[in-house]
Amino acid sequence: MSNSTEKHKKFILNLKSNHERGLAHEALDEVFRKLDTSTFGTSVGPEPNVFTVEPESVRHMQSASQTSDFNMGVRLKVFSTLLGDGIFSSEGSSWKHSRIMLRPFFSRENIKQIHAMEPFTQSVIKAIKQAPQMTLDMQEIFQNFTMDYTTHLLLGESCDCLKTYLGEPTSGSIANDMKLDFAPSFDKGTEYALRRLVMGSFHWLYQPRQMFVEIKKQHDFVDYYVQKALKMNSQDLEKSSDDGTFFLYDLAQKTRDPKVLRDEILSIIVAGRSTTGSLMTFLFYELGRHPKVFTRLRDIIRVQFPDVASIALESIQGCEYLRWCLNETLRYDPPVPFNSRTTTQDTVLPKGGGDDNQSPMLVKRGTKIVYPLWTANRMEKYFGKDTNSFNPDRWGSLPANGGTVFMPFGAGPRNCLGQQLALLETSYVTIRLLQTFDSIKSSHKEARKKSSAIMVMMDGCKLTFG
Ligand code: HEM
Repeated sequence: MSNSTEKHKKFILNLKSNHERGLAHEALDEVFRKLDTSTFGTSVGPEPNVFTVEPESVRHMQSASQTSDFNMGVRLKVFSTLLGDGIFSSEGSSWKHSRIMLRPFFSRENIKQIHAMEPFTQSVIKAIKQAPQMTLDMQEIFQNFTMDYTTHLLLGESCDCLKTYLGEPTSGSIANDMKLDFAPSFDKGTEYALRRLVMGSFHWLYQPRQMFVEIKKQHDFVDYYVQKALKMNSQDLEKSSDDGTFFLYDLAQKTRDPKVLRDEILSIIVAGRSTTGSLMTFLFYELGRHPKVFTRLRDIIRVQFPDVASIALESIQGCEYLRWCLNETLRYDPPVPFNSRTTTQDTVLPKGGGDDNQSPMLVKRGTKIVYPLWTANRMEKYFGKDTNSFNPDRWGSLPANGGTVFMPFGAGPRNCLGQQLALLETSYVTIRLLQTFDSIKSSHKEARKKSSAIMVMMDGCKLTFG
């Protein structure tokens, strides 16, 4: 065996063990650097993989013209146990139907009603003020916030994670134990799904009984609201949809199929809750470590948003430095650290072949092509010098959309439906917290970041507010 093959094998073994420990983002980055390449192929477990940071190839595999050569791979099978044929776990005509049906809900007109976030933001502020020395794990708080706001938006009733955290009484029409069970059950269900994702095509070997118990709890929770909506006549539905702001009541005017309603609701919770919670967590973690960035953002916010009433979609979109801070977080700590597609037949990627990776590359059928955002987002070629540091100012000289390599929300016809909503949610919370608190300090010297389907902080995100 040649030296370079030996070296390659060592990297891959290292990659596998790091993947299991949630450090695949760092291990992959090291492989890319040591091999000095933008694309390499290997097997992780029994499956052939290609890892590439060539934007042309990554956009190609996600583009509308390529749906016969690339599919979503094992993700569909893993998630369909929970999500049935919802948008996140379907393909072809079923996916297209979902996408057309759901898209209007994410329109500018709908998402701009941001003041619905205020009560949940008030709970976040209260949690901070009540914490000893105003020090607490903000990862937990932000994940509670995004669960509360997402369920409020989708179902018209929040699952009250923040109230539960604060020890306050919860309200709502559903039985309290069902409500309180939902978020923990969702988290456990996500853990099972992630373990199965790592197993690739062997996911079917891992189907513990408890996984089905957790899935049933999630189904029962959503079904309660679906049945409530289905009992309504069209006038009541229209009233309850509150001009389209409550997704379920809006959707129930388009379909009366309870399974479709459940599958789509759960799909959106899966796609939108933890991702947005991750963006908020990492933004605040970085603000806690970069006092100059924090002070500048706080001062800008206090001028541009003197009170709650001044916060609106338009004023948020007009706040350039806030956008830079969000973009820099999406670059530096991408909430979805890997994206992938699997080839359905032998096919060709436009880049990645040849000695310099700039020639077309033949890829065999059944190969998983992985795009590691962590590495791509650290390439000096696209993001300028010093990409290993958090520096929102770099966005002053980058295209507003980050250019061709920047794909935190995916690309092509299956890109993120909730992108604007996620940015709005994070902006609103950030503005409200920086209006309220004068300082933030991180208690972590260097946090351990864990990557799986979503980027999280392994030991939570302990921050002290002042
Ligand atoms: C910072 C937060 C978020 C990030 C980084 C993010 C990222 C992504 C990415 C990368 C994809 C594409 C996956 C692929 O190519 O296979 C995606 C899809 C999707 N996202 Fe998001 N997302 C975020 C928030 C949200 C929110 C708030 C919602 C809705 C409430 C949402 C709903 C969806 C849906 C429905 C899809 C599937 C689209 C389809 O398959 O047609 N996302 N997201």
